[in-house]
Amino acid sequence: MTKPNLIKRLISFLRPALTPKMLARQLRQPSGKLGEAVGKKMNESNAYLYDFVFDAMKIKDNQNILEIGYGNGMFFDKLFSIAENLKVSGIDFSRSMFKTAQKNNEEAIVSDILDLRFGDCDVLPFDTDAFDKVFCINVVYFWENPMDNLMEIHRVLKPGGKFYTGIRDKDSMNNMPFTQYGFAMYDEESWKTQLVRNLFSFEETFITEEPPIEFNGEYFTPKSLCLVAQKPL
Ligand SMILES: C[S@@+](CC[C@H](N)C(=O)[O-])C[C@H]1O[C@@H](n2cnc3c(N)ncnc32)[C@H](O)[C@@H]1O
Repeated sequence: MTKPNLIKRLISFLRPALTPKMLARQLRQPSGKLGEAVGKKMNESNAYLYDFVFDAMKIKDNQNILEIGYGNGMFFDKLFSIAENLKVSGIDFSRSMFKTAQKNNEEAIVSDILDLRFGDCDVLPFDTDAFDKVFCINVVYFWENPMDNLMEIHRVLKPGGKFYTGIRDKDSMNNMPFTQYGFAMYDEESWKTQLVRNLFSFEETFITEEPPIEFNGEYFTPKSLCLVAQKPL
């Protein structure tokens, strides 16, 4: 049996047992075989949002970029294809996603253009003023105290550097049954408030309606946002 077929079989085998609460836990911090399967599923569900955020980022040659919460790291190839001579770092606090992302990006890691770390982003293991751009997609829902994370992002950005938050809007998230288990949800205004409170200057919000995505047998067409904020010069 081919690997994709095996994964599909695994997902359908697990589906009856995968309660919204379990799915929520896996989305927050994927682990084990189930985490691997959820990671693959996220690649399908979140590809549109990655493209959307990458467009908003207007990435240029020679930039230094950090992704927070890279999951299985399947979108780094796309990021590298956007511009020349990028230097990319990432951090994720799921041990299994860290290992899988390393496997999925061996060439970039060996070539020293990708630096993947395992850890919690409330303390970032990177220098102050290191990055031109920081982004995260579907991650802020899991931050218990966003101030800790935002202060760190602010610290590692260069003055004038930008932070891009890719999220699904609160009303859309509320329709998804797993979000009642520990998700902090935001709309444009409430996330903007967090950014400004933590010394970012707010720039703009890009808004889109995603094509239908399937989660656990149900279909959703979320409204999604990419908020752009700057560390002032
Ligand atoms: C819902 S998944 C999203 C993965 C990917 N960004 C995507 O959209 O497909 C959330 C990811 O963020 C990671 N994560 C959540 N909170 C984190 C934290 N405090 N520090 C580091 N990684 C975190 C999780 O381990 C997981 O891989």
